[in-house]
Amino acid sequence: MNPQRKISKLSRAIKVLHVVGARPNFVKVAPLMREMSKYKQKFEQKLVHTGQHYDEEMSKLFFDDLGLNEPDIYLGVGSGTHAEQTGKIMIEFEKVCLEEKPDLVIVAGDVNSTIACALVAVKLHIPVAHVEAGLRSFDKTMPEEINRLLTDQITDYLFTTCKDANQNLIKEGITRDKIFFVGNTMIDTLLQQAEIAKKSMILENLGLRDNDNLKRYAVVTLHRPSNVDNPTVLEGILTALNELAKEIPVIFPAHPRTIKQIRNFKLQEMINYEENSKAVGVKKASRKIFAIPPLGYLDFLRLMSEASVVLTDSGGIQEETTILGIPCLTLRANTERPITTTAGTNSLVGNDSQEILGRALDVLKNRIQRKKIPKHWDGKAAVRIARVLRKKAKAGF
Ligand code: UD1
Repeated sequence: MNPQRKISKLSRAIKVLHVVGARPNFVKVAPLMREMSKYKQKFEQKLVHTGQHYDEEMSKLFFDDLGLNEPDIYLGVGSGTHAEQTGKIMIEFEKVCLEEKPDLVIVAGDVNSTIACALVAVKLHIPVAHVEAGLRSFDKTMPEEINRLLTDQITDYLFTTCKDANQNLIKEGITRDKIFFVGNTMIDTLLQQAEIAKKSMILENLGLRDNDNLKRYAVVTLHRPSNVDNPTVLEGILTALNELAKEIPVIFPAHPRTIKQIRNFKLQEMINYEENSKAVGVKKASRKIFAIPPLGYLDFLRLMSEASVVLTDSGGIQEETTILGIPCLTLRANTERPITTTAGTNSLVGNDSQEILGRALDVLKNRIQRKKIPKHWDGKAAVRIARVLRKKAKAGF
């Protein structure tokens, strides 16, 4: 770090830029901003939204549900190829750093906004903290794995969610003094919002709950390139889900890129797509996948909490189902979150059509039992991070 940037013993509040770009970032950053806002004399915080996710359902709904203030700075970069998106974020974020002169940049997770902003900051000699460091799928065909590996190599404070993440970092040569096992801020959010989510009417709106009667149903999310960019793979997954839909309703809040691919590959006949999730019950779709637009945080949490099984290729949902005790089948060959399969309710099933169906039917017969809650997934991860940062700030970073 550039010694010129050293802050003299907390003579003023340190200026922190929090970076968010995509849906999972919002969930990870909200509790940290809330916690750090308790120390106004120590931290002056600003929220930078890169605009990687920009649709109302992918962004604004989350800000509203999580009680996040409007971003202080919006870069509006939108979509593009990886190089275009990463490059645009870097160009815009560099201007922000030069203007704002932050003492610390905090990035979260593994999306393109994470690596882009970490790289900009570190080259300007601004200390960077990474929330959710050290996760590894060991699969470099995943863009997120590249983002994780590179971000961790260049950041100064690495906050991990589990001990195996610490081990991964140490094996990669990161020194122990930079690594802090603090727990999972995504779970902080889940625990904070669980009661509020009970007020969501999503189950009633979808016809899954009638008075006190709750139907058994499955929830699906799908957006990874490995699942949705190949027509044969995508068709195979949709076939399995339609077979499952003959047993129980299959609710599919669909990412815009997935809907786009379903249309590109002319597979739209395989789903019932209702653009307005509030308008209809699920009866109409009872023996076919019922796709709806992406849900806000609270509605999705409610939907997931009462499901018989969740099928997903998301990272965060593997963790959330572990805490909720809901069986999760991950439609991937690997996971960067192995603790959810050893301690939690998650199983890897890959993307073979027969395997997905067989495993889903199995779960309906024999519920996967929750084993245990991973250490520090207790709602206090943000408190631990803020404590470390206060200490570091006191020492002048
Ligand atoms: C990104 C992350 C992924 C994360 C996911 C969460 C990367 C490399 N990937 O994937 O790790 O799990 O967010 O949702 O950063 N689109 C819209 N509206 C939006 C956003 C996206 O229509 O608001 C469409 C666009 O066609 C866009 C495509 O989705 O090109 C992909 O968006 P992008 O942000 O590049 O990646 P995600 O698939 O969302």
